[in-house]
Amino acid sequence: MAIRKVGVVGAGLMGSGIAQTCAQSGYETIVCEVKQEFLDKGMARLHSAWDTMASKSKLTQSQVNENKARLHGTLNMEDFADCDLVIEAVLENMEEKLRLFPALDHILKPDALLLSNTSSLSVTQMGAVTKRPDKICGLHFFNPAPVMKLVEIVQTISSSQDTIDTVRQFALSLGKTPVLAKDTAGFIVNFLLIPYLLAAIRMLENGMATRDDIDTAMKLGCGYPMGPFTLLDYVGLDTTMWAAEAIYNEYKDPLYAPPPLLRRMVTSGMYGKKSGKGFYEY
Ligand code: 3HC
Repeated sequence: MAIRKVGVVGAGLMGSGIAQTCAQSGYETIVCEVKQEFLDKGMARLHSAWDTMASKSKLTQSQVNENKARLHGTLNMEDFADCDLVIEAVLENMEEKLRLFPALDHILKPDALLLSNTSSLSVTQMGAVTKRPDKICGLHFFNPAPVMKLVEIVQTISSSQDTIDTVRQFALSLGKTPVLAKDTAGFIVNFLLIPYLLAAIRMLENGMATRDDIDTAMKLGCGYPMGPFTLLDYVGLDTTMWAAEAIYNEYKDPLYAPPPLLRRMVTSGMYGKKSGKGFYEY
C-alpha cells in the first residue's frame, strides 16, 4: 500500500518531532491536538526547527516553505479520514490510548495503518480494542525525532507481515534505520536504557558520586553524547518514570522500579528540560 498522507496524534515533544520528520520527508502531514494552545506550541517548535535548519543552510527557504505547506494542524480527529497511516504520540497512559484507538479505528479508512509511538506500553492491547489489529504496530521514535536515526518497529502477535513490510519501507523513506522488536515492555532500547538511567539516580541518592561527576564519567568514559542526568532531563523525568513503571509492571524486576527521588521529582513537576527544572535548571 502506498503511503501519501500521514496523521500524527499529539503535538508534544515527540508528536511535533514526528510530524516534522514526516513533512520534511515529503508526506502530506496533519497533526492533531486537543487544545489550540498545545497545537500552537507544537507548530511553533516545529517551524523554528525548520528555520534553524535554513539558517544553517541544511534547507533552502523554498524547502522550508514547501515543508510548511505540507503540514496542517487540526483540533478535529475526523480530519484523519483520508490518511493512509496515523501515528499516535499522546501521553504514555494506557487508559488514554484505549480511548483513542477505537475512536481512530472508527474514523480511519479500512486499509489505513494505525501506529503507536509508545515507548513501553503494550501495542497488542491497543490493537485489541480495534477491528484492525492486523494493521496496528508500534513505531517508536527517539528524542529528538528528526535527528535520531533509529526507529523500533514493534510487531504484535496480530500485526500482519504486510503491515510490518509497509512500515519498514515508510521508516526507510523517513531516512531512519528500523529495527524489529517484539511487543514486550521496553522493546529493545528502553529495556536496556531505563535500568542504566535508574541506576544513575540510585547512585546519586546513595551519595556515591555527584551529579556532575556521574555525567562526566559516562560522557568521557563511555563516549556517550550526554551523561545520564542530562539525558534524563532531555527525555523527561515523567516519560522515564512511565516507561520504568510499564516495564516494572510486566516483569516485577526491581531493576525497573522507579527510585524514590525520581517519583518525588515528578510529583513536584520537575520534568526536566521541558518544565525548566529537573536534575539541572534551564
Ligand atoms: N530538527 C532538526 N535538526 C535538529 C533538531 C530538530 N528538531 N534538534 C537538533 N537538531 C540538530 C541541530 O541543529 C544540530 O545540527 P548541526 O550538527 O548540523 O548543527 C544537531 O541536531 C545536533 O544538535 P546540537 O548541535 O544542538 O547538539 P549536540 O551536537 O549536542 O546533539 C543530540 C544533540 C543529538 C540531542 C545529542 O546530544 C544526542 O544524541 N544525545 C542523546 C540523545 C538520546 O540518547 N536520545 C534518545 C533518548 S531515549 C528516547 O527517546 C526513548 C524514549 O522512549 C524514552
